[in-house]
Amino acid sequence: MTGRTWWKEAVIYQIYPRSFMDSNGDGIGDLQGIISRLDYLKYLGIDVIWLSPVYQSPNDDNGYDISDYRAIMEEFGTMENFDALLKGAHERDIRIVMDLVVNHTSDGHRWFVESRKSKDNPYRDYYIWREGKDAQTPPNNWGSCFGGSAWQYDGETGMYYLHLFSRKQPDLNWDNPKVREEIFDMMRWWCDKGIDGFRMDVISMISKTAEMPDGEGDGLYGDFGPYCVHGPNVHKYLREMNESVLSRYDIMTVGETSGVTTELAKQYAGENARELNMVFQFEHVESDGKYGKWTDEKISLVTLKKIMSRWQTELYGQAWNSLFWDNHDQPRAVSRFGDDRPAFREISAKMLATCLHMMQGTPYIYQGEELGMTNYPFGSPDEFRDIESINAYREWCTEGKLSHEVFWPCLVFKSRDNARTPMQWDDSENAGFTAGKPWIAVNPNYKEINARAETADPDSVFHYYKKLIALRKQNPVMVYGKYELLLPESDALFVYTRTLESTSLLVVCSFCDHETDFTVPDAFFGAPCLISNTNRSYEGKEIRLGAYEAFVLRKEV
Ligand code: GLC
Ligand code: CA
Repeated sequence: MTGRTWWKEAVIYQIYPRSFMDSNGDGIGDLQGIISRLDYLKYLGIDVIWLSPVYQSPNDDNGYDISDYRAIMEEFGTMENFDALLKGAHERDIRIVMDLVVNHTSDGHRWFVESRKSKDNPYRDYYIWREGKDAQTPPNNWGSCFGGSAWQYDGETGMYYLHLFSRKQPDLNWDNPKVREEIFDMMRWWCDKGIDGFRMDVISMISKTAEMPDGEGDGLYGDFGPYCVHGPNVHKYLREMNESVLSRYDIMTVGETSGVTTELAKQYAGENARELNMVFQFEHVESDGKYGKWTDEKISLVTLKKIMSRWQTELYGQAWNSLFWDNHDQPRAVSRFGDDRPAFREISAKMLATCLHMMQGTPYIYQGEELGMTNYPFGSPDEFRDIESINAYREWCTEGKLSHEVFWPCLVFKSRDNARTPMQWDDSENAGFTAGKPWIAVNPNYKEINARAETADPDSVFHYYKKLIALRKQNPVMVYGKYELLLPESDALFVYTRTLESTSLLVVCSFCDHETDFTVPDAFFGAPCLISNTNRSYEGKEIRLGAYEAFVLRKEV
């Protein structure tokens, strides 16, 4: 085990501001709304808020397309509101980590407005411009993450610009030192304000190869991955960032690094790498696709355990894990990895929480996860607000080769909008999220699943999370203990141990909707139960677990 730090011991709570709390009845969550819920977060016990983007943005991708890094989105409020939020959080000993979206800007950003004007504009080289193969054909066949070509033709200068996401999200040219200096300067500006860290959006994509050949692919478009993801200078640029910004403040950093392996993670976030503190890996949420990322099937438990355990083992002592089941880009945890049928929703949500929070790494809770909020019962394509879901339906069904019957269940299961329906605060109209008309529909199950009901019920999912968070503070073994997987081949149980000095935990989680027998290993026989999602005792040696049952034994030698 290497150095102890506050961000290893912390529990982080992600807020997607648009859907968290609306204070002024326009149907859109805002900063004042977040301020009004800080006491709720304090009561839950979290240490850090990761705030999805609140910067000025035309909202083509809900704030992930930024037009001014030093201004607040008008719909969310003002810089005074932001300062009040930061102050209010700090008064409660809660830190705030900002989303940092610097792989691309909005096409409305001043830099891009200038850049597209002429080939000799001083900002031209802030973005990635190329000649087409000919007047009608883009420079190469790369497809963007949100569908269509990754290149957009711009009539002004007759050239194409690169956008790995929507065409309103042009990629910045990190090879230009001026771009890096502008970004570092902006980051220092936020740090000087007193923020506590950055979650770095698609940071593994900032460095592109100079040559940009066609990518492989069997469809219309080719894969940009080999040329843009973990590109040639990404580590150089992150070390530069670390040296000129990150190392100068007491902040935490987490990089979003889709496609990262454990080897690469050690480069990005190794204990001595001088780049980032940790990365988000996506193997457990990205290895299940049938049609691209789309699927209606759950990942098998054996595969899930293999992935999670590899990360636990290979990073041990060398780099730090971030732990998550869901976020604003993923379906709801309980619907995806647990079981959201009424009989199993609460118990499986608690089981998932146990399984994740007992692992080594910093746990992330996505807003509403602590209530066991579920996927949304989408009925028709016009209910989607997310650019990715809307484009996917068009590409795979309307214009593509999949029938509605085949694709629809996959889209409904995986759509990012599942996570983006409003936070369910109480059982009043619109779940107490807004006094107006919400920008995206509220899940109809809010009458049963909401914060008011759950904070009042000591047996709720909410109180279970609260207990797990509190236990973390009292049990360093939860944070620093060494992980070992037991029963790797079981397709019903996820069982592992954690060990730190003389303390050991045995974590037993059932991932199935029927009973399963388990024999407590001799070493743990008779050890007291630290937490469980039932009210029974665990004194016996042979234990018959009910559906989604989870318990943790704690032993001192
Ligand atoms: C990241 C964000 C996602 C966004 C994309 C483009 O993956 O998490 O929400 O759409 O980057 O910025
Ligand atoms: Ca509002």
